[in-house]
Amino acid sequence: MLDRMQRLRRGAITAVGSAAAVVVLASCGGEGPHNSQNTLHPDGPAAHKILNLLTPFFWVAVVVGVGVLVMTIFVALRFRERPGEERSPVQTHGNVVLEVSWTIIPFLILAVMAVPTVATIFNLAKIPKGPNVIHVDVAARQWFWQYQYTDKGTGFYTANEMHIPINRPVVLSLTSNNVIHSFWVPQLAGKKDVVPGHPNTLTIEASHPGTFTGQCAEYCGLSHANMRLRVVAESESDYDAWVAQQQAPLTAAKVDQFTKQISSKWGCLSCHSVTNRSSGTDQVTATIGPNLTHVGDREAFAGDIYQMTLDNLTKWVYDAPGQKPAGPLKGWMPNFSKSGMTMTEAQQIAKYLLCDTATDPNSHPECR
Ligand code: CUA
Repeated sequence: MLDRMQRLRRGAITAVGSAAAVVVLASCGGEGPHNSQNTLHPDGPAAHKILNLLTPFFWVAVVVGVGVLVMTIFVALRFRERPGEERSPVQTHGNVVLEVSWTIIPFLILAVMAVPTVATIFNLAKIPKGPNVIHVDVAARQWFWQYQYTDKGTGFYTANEMHIPINRPVVLSLTSNNVIHSFWVPQLAGKKDVVPGHPNTLTIEASHPGTFTGQCAEYCGLSHANMRLRVVAESESDYDAWVAQQQAPLTAAKVDQFTKQISSKWGCLSCHSVTNRSSGTDQVTATIGPNLTHVGDREAFAGDIYQMTLDNLTKWVYDAPGQKPAGPLKGWMPNFSKSGMTMTEAQQIAKYLLCDTATDPNSHPECR
């Protein structure tokens, strides 16, 4: 009897220890509970609606889960066979009251939960209209996000880093020309799949200025985990300033430098553009790779995985597949070191990308 108690106690200690380890290890991910991809810290109406739905359901699930667990443990202990006791269970033919009630109670719980769930789904699917709304076409590529701002007076392209003004709904039109991806910025909205041949719409909105990171949430190939993004929410005036910067074309001399010196040797223009115009003679010609017009203005590159520094860009230009695995994917940034590019040449190109495309080159210490 004592032996059994000891075993029971040891089992309980192990269980509590394991549970504590799970909690501690889980909190190691990211930067703790206040990391920028935490659905429990929403910063926009859509994300708030989702959390408002999730919270009561979580507690209902806790009550049901704990109830079942406690009852199971109680029954196992209370009705266990004791040493020296010889007995077989009483044979019965079911229990109508019990069976009907444990069918009807879960049905009622689920039926009640369905009402706010369906209401929230319809509410989130509504596409806001009006002059307040901002529109961005999001194209998922393997593996980065291309954005085109489509409202009147805009029309420019950018990649991975999206700027939005606070307190204004931003309607994203999600398309893919390759495989299925999923656009997810946890603090601003739920996930939405990006499906080839089936454009989807997602509305995001931020209530406070800040940088909200996100990522592709649907396995889309070797560098799926390297398909991140960030949304920079800012005041209306900061946003307007950013739009003006992105719209501004590079000087003819800078475009020539890229076209006649860099691309003529390495063929960059077959995938990238250094123009941001959606019409006219100098319009965007290639959208296979990220638009490079103002790549130096972004905080990170390559699917938002590398900080925008001269060193990182140099390594990238020299041997992109070595920096971000692509596997056998065709039409991807090649390993230029294999085509004879030297580190010095790679650094010159990186310097162009960092310093000549940036609206304010002084923001990079390497350009000063
Ligand atoms: Cu795109 Cu995963």
